[in-house]
Amino acid sequence: MSTLKALILSGGKGTRLRPITYTSAKQLIPVANKPILFYVLENIIDAGIKDIGIIISPETGEEIKRAVGSAGAWGVNIQYVLQDEPRGLAHAVKVARPFLAGSPFVMYLGDNLVGDKLNTYIEVFYKDKADAVILLKAVKDPTAFGVAEVAEDGRILTLVEKPKEPRSNLALVGVYIFSPSIHTAIDRLRPSARGELEITDAIQELLNSGCIVKARVLEKWWLDTGKKDDILSANTVVLDEYAKLDVKGRVDKLSQVSGRVVIGKGTEVLNSKIRGPALIGENVKIHNSFIGPFSSIGNHCSIVNSAIEHCVILENVQIEDIERVEDSLIGRHAKVHKNNSDHKALRMTLGDNSVIEV
Ligand code: TTP
Repeated sequence: MSTLKALILSGGKGTRLRPITYTSAKQLIPVANKPILFYVLENIIDAGIKDIGIIISPETGEEIKRAVGSAGAWGVNIQYVLQDEPRGLAHAVKVARPFLAGSPFVMYLGDNLVGDKLNTYIEVFYKDKADAVILLKAVKDPTAFGVAEVAEDGRILTLVEKPKEPRSNLALVGVYIFSPSIHTAIDRLRPSARGELEITDAIQELLNSGCIVKARVLEKWWLDTGKKDDILSANTVVLDEYAKLDVKGRVDKLSQVSGRVVIGKGTEVLNSKIRGPALIGENVKIHNSFIGPFSSIGNHCSIVNSAIEHCVILENVQIEDIERVEDSLIGRHAKVHKNNSDHKALRMTLGDNSVIEV
C-alpha cells in the first residue's frame, strides 16, 4: 500500500462561532495562544506523516495559507485543496481525491483537539488491515455529534449523525483513518436531510458492504471547538496540561505572580496579580489588574484596572476599568472600556474590532 497521507478539514462556515468567524477562520482561534490548526498539524507530523492536504474555503483559505506559511518550515509537503462550498465532510474528501491519489489517509477536522498521539491508531489500521479506524469518546450530550452503537465484542453496529434518540453516549471524534475504499462508499452517498455528504453515512456504507471498520475509544481528552464554551474548555485543558512557569517580561515589585504563569517578551506587569495557570503573550501591558486562572491573553493587549478570569483574549485587545470579565472570548482589536455606569461581571463573545462601553 502507498504511504499514509493526511487530510485536514479547515473549510466550513463556523456559524456557531460568529461573530469571531465573520472575520477569521475558526481553526485559527488560539488555544493557549496557539492556533488550533497548529496543534492538528503538529499531531499529524508527530505521527511521521509527510504529505498533508488542507481543505480550505474561498472565504478563509488565504488566511489559513498565510498563517500556516508564516509559522516557518514544518518540514513536510503541504498542499491546499479548495472546497468551493461546505457541502459536508465526505464532500471534502471527494474534492481532495486528486491529492489523496489512492493512498490511505488520516482525516482530521481542523477544529478538533485530541490529547492522544496517532501512532497507536495507525498501528491498528495496518495490523487489522482495516478500511476505516474511527475514534470514539463518551460525551454528555450525544445528540450534537455522530454517534456509534457498539456491540459488546467491539463491533460497530450503526452510526448516526446527530441522532434525536442516541443509542449510546459514544461520539465520533473528528479523527479518522481510511483506506481508499472510502471513495467508493462516498460515491454511493446522497446528501443528508441537512444537504451535506456525511462522513458517518460513508462509514455506515463501508459497514454495509462488509469492509473492516475498527473503533477505538480515545484514552485522553477530545475537544471539539465549535462553540465559545468549547474554546474556553479547550484553553483550560491545554493550559492545565502544558503551562509551565516562564517569565520573560518585566514584573515589578508590587506585583504577584503565583502558579504556572507564562509571560512573554516585552510584556510589562505593574502592580498586578497573576494567578496561574495563565498565559500572557508578548508586548502586553498589565497595570493594576488581576488575571485569574485559565486565561490566555494574546500579544499586544492592554489590561488596565481590570480583573479577568477564565477568558481567551485574542491579540491587540484593550480592557480598561472593568471590575470583572469572566468566561469570555474576545476577538482581535476589541476595546472594552468603562463609561461611568455601575456594573457587575461581564460575560461576552466579542468579534474582532468590537467596541464595548459599560
Ligand atoms: P463543522 O464544525 O461540522 O462545521 P462548520 O465549520 O461549518 O461550523 P458550524 O457548524 O458552526 O457552521 O466542521 C468541522 C470541521 O470541518 C471544521 O474544521 C470545518 C471543516 N469542514 C470543511 O472543511 N468542509 C465542510 O464541508 C464542512 C461541513 C466542514
